[in-house]
Amino acid sequence: MVEKTDDSRELRRSLSVTNLVTLGVGAIVGAGIFVITGQAAANHAGPALTLSFLISATGCILAGLCYAELAAMIPVSGSVYSYSYVTMGEFPAWFIGWDLILEYLFACSAVAVAWSGYMESLFQGWGIALPHSIAQSTFAHTEEGWHLTGSIINFPAVFIVSLVATLLLGGIRQSATVNNIIVVIKVSVILLFIGFGLSYIDTGNWSPYIPPNTGEFGHYGFSGILRGAALVFFAFLGFDALSTAAQETRNPQRDMPKGILISLIVCTLLYVLVTAVLTGIVNYRELNVDAPIAVAIDHAGKGLAWLSPFIKVGAIAGLSSVILVMMLGQTRIYYAISRDGMFPKIFSDIHGKTHIPHKATIFAGIVTGLVAGLFPLNVLNELVSIGTLLAFTIVCISVVVLRVTRPELKRPFKVPFAPAIPLLGAAFCLLQMVSLPWNTWIRLIGWTIIGCIIYFSYGITHSRLNRNR
Ligand code: ALA
Repeated sequence: MVEKTDDSRELRRSLSVTNLVTLGVGAIVGAGIFVITGQAAANHAGPALTLSFLISATGCILAGLCYAELAAMIPVSGSVYSYSYVTMGEFPAWFIGWDLILEYLFACSAVAVAWSGYMESLFQGWGIALPHSIAQSTFAHTEEGWHLTGSIINFPAVFIVSLVATLLLGGIRQSATVNNIIVVIKVSVILLFIGFGLSYIDTGNWSPYIPPNTGEFGHYGFSGILRGAALVFFAFLGFDALSTAAQETRNPQRDMPKGILISLIVCTLLYVLVTAVLTGIVNYRELNVDAPIAVAIDHAGKGLAWLSPFIKVGAIAGLSSVILVMMLGQTRIYYAISRDGMFPKIFSDIHGKTHIPHKATIFAGIVTGLVAGLFPLNVLNELVSIGTLLAFTIVCISVVVLRVTRPELKRPFKVPFAPAIPLLGAAFCLLQMVSLPWNTWIRLIGWTIIGCIIYFSYGITHSRLNRNR
């Protein structure tokens, strides 16, 4: 087994289980519920989107159990990258680390673009129109291919990324405190919507609960529920980012499994309730919009109008915390890879006062800001799902491999019914990967080739293992 020790470059252990749950909810509840829910109900599942959420949650909870076992057993920074390093060695670990960078970089950028959209609509509500030249992505991608939009850069997206990077530079404790405040705001807003929205439900909107399939796969009916599940999968991303903070958790063996599982269960409950209220207030056909919850409130009439600004502010705050935790995850992956020598040492330099990898944080801020400013949401979203599903598959398989190859290792948390549950989790993720369009696969392959070039031209010769040989 490859040991991971290098005490001169240690992070500080300061996160409690409550911090972990709030970090988890902070990372999970975002564009998925505030933006994607409406489109998934309108175009694919109708009111049965509640079932899509349950299907997607089941897959994530299976993978979450596997994450919990590994995170408790190998409580170091770097999440699945570090688990693969310990269980499978250097190259597989590099492969998965590179894949995680893809997930966190593009998810963070995608949510920053969604943040920009909500901000624009908030300004519009105040009668202020942001100029097109600074509020859109530089490039757009349609069926005809790539083209320039005429905008210089998506400035609000670059702005929020820079703000979050600055916050992260203040240290993990400061970031966790800000995140806690944001989580309270966004969860309160969601609970207000559920609580006050209940009395505006017209049960006629839930009928038919599963709209009949139109004859095309994924357009309502059972296949629509499945397609809806694949779309709202995005809404659950983020719980895995939690495990990147294992090395900064006070008692990772006990707290990490709790943090991951409680966050996932809380979010599933919130999502199912919001979807039920949303599709109960408004007919699902009217929900193909960017701000579905705001539409439901308008639909409810004067009685709920007071809630509208709160929802927008809640969404903006909510998206900010997703960006925060995703960027935190990204920096900790850079840190872990650099500690193992496969990225330059600069990425694992720790700041003397804040105890965080400050140079990796600045780098992550610049790259994420550029990606968020230049590219549109649809392209970023696609890449996120395939990268994450691949990571989840590897985590599930690692649990099975380790149970066989290292049965003696202490497991403070064990996935129940192994290997059935981990294998089911892997099958579930693989199935969703297979259903993704071929051009997403091509982009994943392109990303992997770039990763291999970096590994074989730099990583392999500089790695800690290679130096120790
Ligand atoms: N789960 C995160 C969101 O919905 C990525 O924004």
